[in-house]
Amino acid sequence: MTRLLLLAVPALLLVAACQHRQQGPVETVETKGPAPDPTWNVVQMEMQLLTTVLENAMRAVGDGDVSHVAKELHQLHQAKEATEAAVKDGSYTLPKGSDQVPTFLAMDDAFHKQLEAMVRASRANDVPAMAQAIGNTLNACHGCHALFRDP
Ligand code: HEC
Repeated sequence: MTRLLLLAVPALLLVAACQHRQQGPVETVETKGPAPDPTWNVVQMEMQLLTTVLENAMRAVGDGDVSHVAKELHQLHQAKEATEAAVKDGSYTLPKGSDQVPTFLAMDDAFHKQLEAMVRASRANDVPAMAQAIGNTLNACHGCHALFRDP
């Protein structure tokens, strides 16, 4: 009983904190990413799309329905192919490490395999698996940026 009370007190405090927050104006959140900018190169396009898809996936976790995420991830696959082609034919030059194209392509490949876990979670509409897959995906951003993105 004491244990139950100990659990109940912080829970009540949390509820009180949430209610307090709701007294202010309700913030609206933009659900779409920035409109494509004609000055973006092919990788910037992919990265902006990636960021938007991840933001939407995170919202889907909150909504408890991740079934639509797979469709959005599909667009990323097309963006990846555009990136690969541009890196290979030289129409896009990496801002850093441009002499290590094979490493970049391998990292990009590994990264997109990581995204497949999100696709699987979406197809199963498995919310906890999606949360886990988003976390793993986010862990993979920095490694590639450290090597190939000009800060
Ligand atoms: C395989 C490599 C790679 C991975 C993995 C990667 N990025 Fe990037 N990202 C890049 C490169 C290269 C650039 C720089 C593009 C340029 O400026 O030409 C970049 C740039 C960006 C930008 C800036 C785009 C702009 O408009 O200038 C954002 C935002 C971004 N990445 C988000 C992410 C996020 C979020 C993740 C992880 C979920 C991620 N990236 C994973 C390679 C990667």
